Amino acid sequence: MENEAILEKYGLFRAKVPRFTSYPPANRFEMDTGRKHQAEWLGEVKPDEPLSLYIHIPFCRRLCYFCACRTQGTKTLKPVASYIKTLLDEIRVVRQHLPKSVKMARLHYGGGTPTLLSTELMNRLCDAVFTQFATAPDFEFSVEIDPTEASDAVLETLADWRLGRASIGIQDFMPKVQKAIGREQSFEQTAGVIEKLRALGIGSVNFDLVYGLPHQTRESLADTLEQVLSLSPDRLALYGYAHVPQMSKRQVMISENDLADSYERFHLASMARNILTDHGLVPIGIDHFAPESDSLARAAREGHLRRNFQGYTDDPCRTLIGFGASAISEYRQGYVQNAVATAAYAERVAHDGLAGHRGYAMRTRDKMVADLVQNLMCEGAFDVEALKAAHPLMTVQIDNVLSRLVLSFPDALELEAGRLSIREDAASLTRVIASVAAAEQQTGSLAI
Ligand SMILES: C[S@@+](CC[C@H](N)C(=O)[O-])C[C@H]1O[C@@H](n2cnc3c(N)ncnc32)[C@H](O)[C@@H]1O
Ligand code: SF4
Repeated sequence: MENEAILEKYGLFRAKVPRFTSYPPANRFEMDTGRKHQAEWLGEVKPDEPLSLYIHIPFCRRLCYFCACRTQGTKTLKPVASYIKTLLDEIRVVRQHLPKSVKMARLHYGGGTPTLLSTELMNRLCDAVFTQFATAPDFEFSVEIDPTEASDAVLETLADWRLGRASIGIQDFMPKVQKAIGREQSFEQTAGVIEKLRALGIGSVNFDLVYGLPHQTRESLADTLEQVLSLSPDRLALYGYAHVPQMSKRQVMISENDLADSYERFHLASMARNILTDHGLVPIGIDHFAPESDSLARAAREGHLRRNFQGYTDDPCRTLIGFGASAISEYRQGYVQNAVATAAYAERVAHDGLAGHRGYAMRTRDKMVADLVQNLMCEGAFDVEALKAAHPLMTVQIDNVLSRLVLSFPDALELEAGRLSIREDAASLTRVIASVAAAEQQTGSLAI
């Protein structure tokens, strides 16, 4: 049980903090840094290194009002076909920059709605990826699926290409909530797609849900969760609704008067957590749940859970290469984000085959903070000596961050045997604590 007084004291209900799918967050990427470094960093990938590949499909037939993803509406497949053509060019050129022997260990299609591709476009895309990249022995292929936009033929095509994991967008089953978020999707239709995926032998079907949506109440969320649990999720993500109409214009369709305040959001999340854990799912990181036997739950138990742009993962790859408009790549040296608008992306690929635009070159301090933030987000803790051993030039800075955290959150943290952990009754503060750990400068003796 969390201690609400501690959460209040340390500002949980007022906090506006990043989700930390990367450090630094993408809004700190710098103009042209991606363009400048992309070819160089691709060439420096280690020849025997397994790669994680992400392919972004920024199209949807409907645009749900709540969605903050980079995507655009389309009624026809014409722009999609032209986009796939550009993607194939980009994949070919990126492959030429990489060492010949690299293999892909992970492949993820996200969006947007990858399943709006026709079977012909899907086959063309998969054929290009699998022709260019040999698979590593533990290869895993996953795709994001909107159940209202997933024909049997496309699911069968994906299964033929060895799809192993599907992420199904559910959000909420209550009709009033669905109407307010512009996303009507029946339980029956969702259950039908899940059944089809399982019949095709897809080993893991993961569900995406959101709390804090307009008109959602504790009662309605509990009903949604009951329906969701009857579908036996192999893994479940419960995201807090991010209302950012200044970034995602379609969210102006959602009235702020219909949204829960931050106190109620906390109660919705706590209630959901109790329901899910009472049903035998274990919490993973800040917003995932799975049965004990799931590989993500195992990674969390064994201390190798990681966080990347797709959220929590057991993906062991150090290098993630993103293809498509706005996709982000992560290299040892830093981040490269492709041009965001599809037209600008196509222009960049037509020009020299690479679409890198914004980006970030990691400095010594950034690498240390990135590890520290990863540890906090994945384990709710970090080991001070291990961090110093990994970043020997940063020992003074690590001590400074440590004292800053201990002074800032005395009732929320515990320091025992060189390990600083977030107390169980303050777990909701994880992102707040990570943001203080990541802060650039602090005055006085705590400056780093
Ligand atoms: C990239 S979207 C793709 C989903 C797929 N097109 C679908 O509709 O099922 C993946 C997930 O991000 C989550 N998401 C999107 N916008 C969000 C927001 N504003 N706040 C929280 N989660 C959000 C939703 O759970 C969504 O299913
Ligand atoms: S939730 Fe899925 S279908 Fe809806 S707009 Fe976002 S990406 Fe498109």
